[in-house]
Amino acid sequence: MQKKWWKEAVVYQIYPRSFKDSNGDGIGDIKGITSKLDYLQELGIDVVWLSPVYKSPNDDNGYDISDYRDIMDEFGTMADWEEMLAEMHKRGIKLMMDLVVNHSSDEHAWFVEARKSKDNPYRDYYIWRPGNDGKEPNNWESAFSGSTWEYDEATDEYFLHIFSKKQPDLNWENPKLREEVYDMMKFWLDKGIDGFRMDVINFISKVDGLPSAPNPEGKKYVSGHEYFMNGPRIHEFLHEMNQEVLSNYDIITVGEMPGVTPEQGILYTDEDRNELNMVFQFEHMDLDSGPGGKWNLKPLELADLKKSLSKWQTELEGKGWNSLYLNNHDQPRVVSRFGDDKQYRVESAKMLGTLLHMMQGTPYIYQGEEIGMTNVKFSSIEEYKDIETLNMYKDKVQENGEDPEKVMLSIYTKGRDNARTPVQWDATAHAGFTTGTPWIQVNPNYTEINAQQAVSDENSVFHYYKKLIQLRKQHDIIVYGSYEIILEDHNEIYAYTRTLGDEKLLVITNFSGETPTFTLPEGLSFTQQELLISNYDVNHDEKINKFALKPWEARVYKLA
Ligand code: NOJ
Repeated sequence: MQKKWWKEAVVYQIYPRSFKDSNGDGIGDIKGITSKLDYLQELGIDVVWLSPVYKSPNDDNGYDISDYRDIMDEFGTMADWEEMLAEMHKRGIKLMMDLVVNHSSDEHAWFVEARKSKDNPYRDYYIWRPGNDGKEPNNWESAFSGSTWEYDEATDEYFLHIFSKKQPDLNWENPKLREEVYDMMKFWLDKGIDGFRMDVINFISKVDGLPSAPNPEGKKYVSGHEYFMNGPRIHEFLHEMNQEVLSNYDIITVGEMPGVTPEQGILYTDEDRNELNMVFQFEHMDLDSGPGGKWNLKPLELADLKKSLSKWQTELEGKGWNSLYLNNHDQPRVVSRFGDDKQYRVESAKMLGTLLHMMQGTPYIYQGEEIGMTNVKFSSIEEYKDIETLNMYKDKVQENGEDPEKVMLSIYTKGRDNARTPVQWDATAHAGFTTGTPWIQVNPNYTEINAQQAVSDENSVFHYYKKLIQLRKQHDIIVYGSYEIILEDHNEIYAYTRTLGDEKLLVITNFSGETPTFTLPEGLSFTQQELLISNYDVNHDEKINKFALKPWEARVYKLA
């Protein structure tokens, strides 16, 4: 396998609105990020993925961009951004910017022009269709509820928006639009950035004719995913982007790709095909959803998690490259989701970090994960800010009469605002995030869970993550070793090995508050063992052929 710096790197995601406020307006900003770079350097991460900081009316917190070449006023200025980049580079930290080009904001100059008339030169930068008997052109449902189509009175046509109606989809069939996007990417790369995370990039090629989806239950709107996920020209577009832009720089690229399969994941990341370095797949994020989708709650079955992660590990081996993540700004906090955020918060947060960081792929840490931040329960829907959550609540409760308590439970479990409460820096007012009033409430557990506490406590999740990151730097096998699951049918233990040459790594994790017995499978023989990390005190010489794990315990051994 070819060695690459981005395979050896650990990425840390910053969601700027909630990271650190420097000027007391209650909104995180760029100077706030710069003020915390020493903290990130101490953690030891290599790359920051920065969620969007471009000009935006904030219908979807910056994922609706009105100027791709400028900074949002609330976050600061271009000079602040340049200073931040220089300060990152000084500390050996690389910067990956968010590239959101499936759609723009409806306030982007291109769209303002496009909606003026049908023959405007920018009309074809977006996707317009006449109505269908006075109704929407097709039956697709928006990711944020309702139709994917919005009627534009001035020109008597509808425009497509897979996300909110303030996020019109860009028309990638138009070569002029593609050139504009590539130019804009060069603008940022020439400023010295080190890569892109590409927002829903596998949505940019739509099936010709945009047909309605089958609708056997006669719903008002249904998912149109099959007509725009991994669409007909997607590989052509990404290859073109690679040749025009990416291949001219030594950078890291990751494509966010809902609905991607391992087979497609290989096509996107096979180094000989020259598209992207890696993709964010979603299979493991869907395992605790029922047939009704994200809000249809279902407990996670460990067997499903093992099957899914193992499939990605083995299928991409030697053919593509995985990105590894357990949460981000769109997902609930992993310790609340897959661990125990009460009695065993610290232990289970460490166990989950171990499971992920010992796999093959590039690991991503989401802000606050490194101190074991948890989900939040606001007392009323009024406290929530996320457009997906608010639209869903309105649709289900106000328009369809569903039980508000049940809907609130699904928001507590899955809502995106779980990840968007401010980073808890210390135990002072508003967790030290702001001296003003935070744009979204701080999680009330900040007096106990905060970065200051974690940095000063050597048994904290923070110090454990620091060690996980260091181990990756010290042992090639953690980066390049091949993965094999063991004890596949165990109900509580998730264990696997990594192999590189004649080295072996043994990773054992307990996904329960119980004390299951680990039994070393026959055939895994060795004469020497070295304990690399554990979330409990372990006797280094203890025989590991058979032993009882403690609640949420994790151990990693190097065997020889
Ligand atoms: C994925 C982003 O991660 C999410 O936050 C956003 O709402 C959608 N794409 C639309 O840009």
